[in-house]
Amino acid sequence: MILSKNIKKKGLNFMKIKEIKEKIKIGIDKIGFAMPKYFLDIRDLALGRNENENKFVKGLMQSEMSIAPVTDDIVSLGASAAEQILDEEDKKNIEMVIVGTESGIDQSKASAVFIHNLLKIQPFARCIEIKEACYGATAALSFAKNYIEKNENASVLVIASDTAKYGINTPGESTQGAGSIAMLIKKEPKIAVINDESICQTRDIMDFWRPNYSDFPIVDGHFSTKQYLDCLTTTFEEYKKRYSQDLTDFDAFCFHLPFPKLGLKAINSIFAKKVEKEEKNKFLEKFHASIVYGKRVGNIYTGSLYLSFLSLLENCDNLKTGDKIGMYSYGSGAVCEFFNLTLVDGFKSHLRNDRLNDFDNRKQLSIKEYEDMFFEKIILNEEGNCDFSNNRFIQESDNAFVLEKVEN
Ligand code: HMG
Repeated sequence: MILSKNIKKKGLNFMKIKEIKEKIKIGIDKIGFAMPKYFLDIRDLALGRNENENKFVKGLMQSEMSIAPVTDDIVSLGASAAEQILDEEDKKNIEMVIVGTESGIDQSKASAVFIHNLLKIQPFARCIEIKEACYGATAALSFAKNYIEKNENASVLVIASDTAKYGINTPGESTQGAGSIAMLIKKEPKIAVINDESICQTRDIMDFWRPNYSDFPIVDGHFSTKQYLDCLTTTFEEYKKRYSQDLTDFDAFCFHLPFPKLGLKAINSIFAKKVEKEEKNKFLEKFHASIVYGKRVGNIYTGSLYLSFLSLLENCDNLKTGDKIGMYSYGSGAVCEFFNLTLVDGFKSHLRNDRLNDFDNRKQLSIKEYEDMFFEKIILNEEGNCDFSNNRFIQESDNAFVLEKVEN
């Protein structure tokens, strides 16, 4: 838009021409999700661990957990999620691939480099991995938005990919899972705009971490849930103060969901006690739509918040263009962010309405099969190679990519 303004100074006429660019809208244009073919019923886990099943079904509000065989890692799941949504034109326009993960397969090489090759994205792209526990993909979104602000015609592929494993017979075992979300970020998005307002908070705490010497995270479970909730309430208070907004400015909320019950505690924690029951029920109805997928997948770390978002969009009939969704991202350690998205015109037509079939088509595992599958390690032969090509997991997989071989 060109604005011109006459400035009269000392009898001379100056014309000031100022180009004011309308701020471009940047956000989620496409969103895909991939998970392994296998799941464990949470009641079978309870039975196997001598726990009352209601502790997991009601106490955590979990019903199933996705179980990844050794042939489904963050690269194969991440690339499979992206392959569902990208067309050839997208692959020509992607200038950056960012993977948020805390289940890295290499300390040095970014998983995004493998994914870039598998998807045949044009070569002049930047590929990186971002780590901060479950928060990584949210940082990636912000990085993507900043990049597109300066490179308007570019797209960025953001992938959140993780396998959450706590180990057999640990308190965290009922909160495991595996899966990947892929999001294409570009200007004039077809699903949701990422708005500018956001508040982060960092606390150097030891609630959950996984040092190099340990296969599994070290967790102070109850402390971690307190920190998650306290980070939410303090960050949301700061958000309301800085942006002069309140609950009434939002139409729904999505939370990072290590287990769905924590999301319920989260929504209760941001409601003032005096809020009308009717108003709260409106949010609770949407909350229940946002946990449909998470209940059946478990914690997928970096992708968990975005799976809640996808679940809300695909399972709620009460959303409309312009609705503002509050998003709470939390990564142990800890970094959190409260930000928001606005749904754009026609968003529903860029989603699926049959995704629950994918969940129903998975294979159920017995507790013994789960233990053997989820905790199997890659064992290299003397030459440093490993070949899974005859493995039944590869034949059974519905995903576009699987890990076939490790070659020295
Ligand atoms: P726990 O200590 O074994 O379970 O493990 P509990 O005793 O606290 O019971 C769980 C709930 O079940 C409780 O509900 C019980 O009352 C209820 P609450 O009181 O909290 O509402 N319960 C029952 N309900 C009905 N009938 C029954 C029954 N028995 C009990 N018979 C814990 C729970 C979450 C601590 C554990 O699973 C764990 O350590 N998980 C891993 C850590 C975690 O998920 N933390 C969440 C916050 S941190 C985060 O989100 C980051 C993370 O995603 C990692 C990252 O950022 O990378 C984890």
